[in-house]
Amino acid sequence: MKSRAGRNTPYTKPAEKSSTMKHYTIACIVGSIRKASLNRKLADALTVIAPGDFSFSHIRIDDLPLYSEDNELNPGEAVRRLKAEIGAADGLLFVTPEYNRSLPGVLKNAIDHASRPYGQSVWKGKPAGVIGISPGAIGTALAQQHLRNILSFLDVPALGQPEAFIQSKDGLFNEDGSFGEASRQFMQGWMDRFVSWVKLHADGISAK
Ligand code: FNR
Repeated sequence: MKSRAGRNTPYTKPAEKSSTMKHYTIACIVGSIRKASLNRKLADALTVIAPGDFSFSHIRIDDLPLYSEDNELNPGEAVRRLKAEIGAADGLLFVTPEYNRSLPGVLKNAIDHASRPYGQSVWKGKPAGVIGISPGAIGTALAQQHLRNILSFLDVPALGQPEAFIQSKDGLFNEDGSFGEASRQFMQGWMDRFVSWVKLHADGISAK
């Protein structure tokens, strides 16, 4: 794997691109804003195993102001950008750490921004995948469950299976950031289901 998606960088596998192919754009929202984030690494590795008709944009959330209802009717540039990027996407990929047995505040802040003003949420109906990685044994299970509660309220259909509670271990990633031998099959299976889920909602194509 030589090429990896960076912040706000669309990634497509050039070799598999075809002008006649329908293309699906996925907004990838990573719930960590730290530079060496394991979750960003997971997100990057996932984008590489996606099929050529899927491209991913990393959604920037680190420059969003703290949400306040006072500013809702006069949102700043970062909030407008966030809403436009989510609104334009065919699907959503949430890759989140667990903070104190829930999702990080930065992710909740972004979700709140894009859900308002009332009646103008851009989340509604976007098919989503939820996944996360932590050094801890439960691999973000509780953060993901809290996130699913929020997505359910926002009318975001989230892929239920396979669940992917990833624990950071030796061998999960190769040196170049791609998935290691032990994890590749599971991750590819997860990606295949996510792709089917997005297509099911975008086109009514049957999920595998
Ligand atoms: C954590 N971490 C953590 N891990 C976990 O499995 N369950 C938890 O509840 C928490 N809680 C928690 C709170 C806070 C404030 C921090 C900073 C960290 C550890 C966390 O999983 C670890 O730092 C990950 O590496 C964070 O994800 P990124 O930044 O590597 O993507």
